[in-house]
Amino acid sequence: MNYIDIRNWFNEYTSDFAEGADRQNIILKIEHTQRVASDIIEIGTELGLTRTQLDLAKIAAQLHDIGRFEQYRRYGTFNDGKSTDHAVLGLEVLQEKKILQELPPESQEIIIKSIKYHNKLSVPQDESQEVFFYCKLLRDADKLDIFKVVTDYYAIRHLDRNETLELDLPENGDVSVVVFESVKNREPVDFKLIKNLNDFKLLQAGWVFELNFIPTIRLFKERGYLSKLEKSLPSEEGLAEIFQMIRAYIEQKLL
Ligand SMILES: [Fe+2]
Repeated sequence: MNYIDIRNWFNEYTSDFAEGADRQNIILKIEHTQRVASDIIEIGTELGLTRTQLDLAKIAAQLHDIGRFEQYRRYGTFNDGKSTDHAVLGLEVLQEKKILQELPPESQEIIIKSIKYHNKLSVPQDESQEVFFYCKLLRDADKLDIFKVVTDYYAIRHLDRNETLELDLPENGDVSVVVFESVKNREPVDFKLIKNLNDFKLLQAGWVFELNFIPTIRLFKERGYLSKLEKSLPSEEGLAEIFQMIRAYIEQKLL
């Protein structure tokens, strides 16, 4: 199994999930996956990875959200809190379909752990340096594209609402104090603290502090995601201050 085989399997596997209006949510995840696979190459190339390393990273990216399809089929939501951990579900799918078994055991371990940890608050420190590196790489590429998905959506949401993308969160409500404080202190925000859509947007802005590699931060800046997120939130002094702080952080990282 090389990357092309895996991508072909992915296309085949995802081709018959959902019909009608629900198909749009499936397509969203298919397109997200393709962009994560291409972003991971862009970031990895700039980091100087070898061809073999890039291939491995691309396979992990191609498979990282494979659980999303079964999750949507079973539960009709992408909200893990209301259904199941989509990373764990994805690993079950890969095991059942025997997708990784022809790969060398070290590669299997890297792919499995990258998927397992891609949606967790952090990657356990006791993983080997190599596993840790690939986990960080996938988390960066994934976040970079989630910034695209959500900011594209926030810009058109007044025309075309998608409750699934909003994780069925209530639309209105002030940013919760605990979310505000966490982002201000550059701490990762636990998803369980999210009470409304504004909390979710601020959590996403706080992801900038979680980006691991300079090329990711550079791409994040070039693509203008921070201003788009800021525009989607109510204009409040406290929030403006946080966004200013995030901008300063990015500039300092890119020096
Ligand atoms: Fe993803």
